[in-house]
Amino acid sequence: MLDETTRDRLAQEALQNREKAYVPYSGFAVGAALLAENGRIYGGANIENAAFGPTNCAERTALFSAVFAGERHFAAIAVAGGKAGNPISDFCAPCGVCRQVMREFCGPDFEIFLVGPHSVRRYTLSELLPESFGPDDLR
Ligand code: THU
Repeated sequence: MLDETTRDRLAQEALQNREKAYVPYSGFAVGAALLAENGRIYGGANIENAAFGPTNCAERTALFSAVFAGERHFAAIAVAGGKAGNPISDFCAPCGVCRQVMREFCGPDFEIFLVGPHSVRRYTLSELLPESFGPDDLR
């Protein structure tokens, strides 16, 4: 389990990364901060598209940029989302597609922190994506 200092740092980075979101359509800015097992932190924000479907969530932005940088082992992610230009007012949980992308690279004990206005909630990937399909199923 992540120590409190690292968890708070991830939460702060997720909040800062919201400022980089490109959200002209939903106006809902999400930031993520992904901790690799080697201690490096990768940021992400949601990047929307006029065709809507190609929109990339904050979590996937962080995961894909980390994987492209050569990372394959991850410990935790923090996610913060809410109306752009405003402080967050609620918890924002990863969508189903992002949970499945986490499943590709992260183990069942991968920690997912939802950043709320006054507290942080902790889940594991196996809690948010039970009975999942993953790389092992194709071996
Ligand atoms: N979004 C994320 O980036 N992450 C989440 O966990 C939930 C949703 C984005 C997608 C879209 O740009 C906006 O939030 C509204 O759905």
